[in-house]
Amino acid sequence: MKVFEKVKDLQEYLSGQKNPIGLVPTMGALHQGHLSLLQNSKKDNATTVVSIFVNPIQFNDKKDFDKYPRLLDNDLKLLDNYNCDVVFAPSVEEIYPEPPQESYDFGYLDKVLEGAFRPGHFNGVAIVVNRLFNIVKPDRAYFGKKDYQQYIIIKQLVKQQNLPIEIIAVPIVREPSGLAMSSRNLRLSENELQIAPEIYKALYLAKNLAYKKSINEVKQAVIDHLTQFLDFKIEYVEIVNADNLKTMNDWNEGKPIILIATWLGDVRLIDNMELF
Ligand code: PAF
Repeated sequence: MKVFEKVKDLQEYLSGQKNPIGLVPTMGALHQGHLSLLQNSKKDNATTVVSIFVNPIQFNDKKDFDKYPRLLDNDLKLLDNYNCDVVFAPSVEEIYPEPPQESYDFGYLDKVLEGAFRPGHFNGVAIVVNRLFNIVKPDRAYFGKKDYQQYIIIKQLVKQQNLPIEIIAVPIVREPSGLAMSSRNLRLSENELQIAPEIYKALYLAKNLAYKKSINEVKQAVIDHLTQFLDFKIEYVEIVNADNLKTMNDWNEGKPIILIATWLGDVRLIDNMELF
């Protein structure tokens, strides 16, 4: 496994490697969810690049950025064990030699859900992902469905920029408890780890009630389930069309997906489940 910090060195090396190239963009603190992205890329491509970069400009909350787990040595060992070909772990200066100025407009897509609670977040994601795309020039790029809105926005980015990159969404990987894997889970206390799987139970409840009850009744049942646990501070529970993130009022309006964002202590968790 080759590890590069500099764009020039990475590009020089990649120019001698076999195509197609798969890119797995990450912020490190890797878990099985990331490894599943890597495995999918390895299956589809001759060369897989995993990037590890905690992108400062996508954190709307400085505390969240400071507390984001950084475990590079451990990540490199894991990636080597899973036969990753190339790791790109640049510094902030390497990605942003000057303060970035780009501004993307994804219309409705980045105003709702996460966009409504994390202003600027998706612009920061789009800036870094576009830069990684320009650096690595992958044929395919892999994103987890846990960040469902991010996946939809990246697809839109590729369309807007006319990039010849196939965006592949990989299913959520869960702990045996049902808790969706996330680097932020590392910050949950023992007690919070006991409660966090209730998010999955609430999503599953929605799955069972979908099409039998109205959309509003299903949302209310999910909220009622979560609010039994006083530690949750819900930001949103929404059922939207999985293709365009538009709010649904009727089950026949499209393919429904339920998305939840909630605080648990000082950790913000998101999760979702397709209801079709
Ligand atoms: O999903 C993530 O980990 C990040 O948002 C990404 C795509 C690596 C961009 O920094």
